Amino acid sequence: MARSRQPLIAGNWKMNGLRADALTLAKGVADGVRQAAWQDRAVLVCPPATLLAAVAESVKSSGVLVGGQNCHAKASGAHTGDVSAEMLRDCGASHVIVGHSERRADYGETDAIVRAKAEAAWRAGLVPIVCIGETLAEREAGKTLAVLEAQLRGSVPSGATAATLVVAYEPVWAIGTGKTPTTPEVAAAHAHIRGVLGSLTADAQSVRLLYGGSVNGRNAAELLAAGDVDGGLVGGASLKPDEFLAIAKSA
Ligand code: PGA
Repeated sequence: MARSRQPLIAGNWKMNGLRADALTLAKGVADGVRQAAWQDRAVLVCPPATLLAAVAESVKSSGVLVGGQNCHAKASGAHTGDVSAEMLRDCGASHVIVGHSERRADYGETDAIVRAKAEAAWRAGLVPIVCIGETLAEREAGKTLAVLEAQLRGSVPSGATAATLVVAYEPVWAIGTGKTPTTPEVAAAHAHIRGVLGSLTADAQSVRLLYGGSVNGRNAAELLAAGDVDGGLVGGASLKPDEFLAIAKSA
């Protein structure tokens, strides 16, 4: 049966990799994607900003997409150390992750800041991957769905469509911990997200919703088959080409 939403498997390399390792990793992913010649899924890698141009060059014509991990809301100016969405695009990016929980925690990024970054992505012609997710305390307090809804309403700019938005649900407590929600919990969160998107986008049924948080080669098939899950945002396991490709295959 044809799927209505093309799955997206995104690798978030975080602050890992020097040039030589990163190019080996990129080549491994590109070779695997070329060989698989998938028509029905998309594969994205998000290297550190310093390596984006080199990685984009190395995966050229393989079908692998390249994205940034963050961007500034402004196009240019006196913002020492920051990188704009336009700069990412200029290096060959098609996507940018915004509002990852590590940035929300490390830099105090609020929903309003994340929203401005998503708008910056649009201005530059990039698709933002807007990350949301509850903490363990919020989950234990039974607030998961309310937190997700508030984050979505605050972080998704108006006018978003399936062509200009990807949402990643990443429970904060599942990132890098080896812990994951159960498949029904993932499905419930994604169904709720899609429902909320119904009032924020014109075509919520077509928006891709990724699950992220300790996805690996063993649990991917089950997690990514959960209802309303259209792929994954993969951290640690995206640093191993074989495992990342196995995850992509299982989507
Ligand atoms: P993880 O990270 O797969 O290492 O848990 C996911 C993410 O932070 O995007």
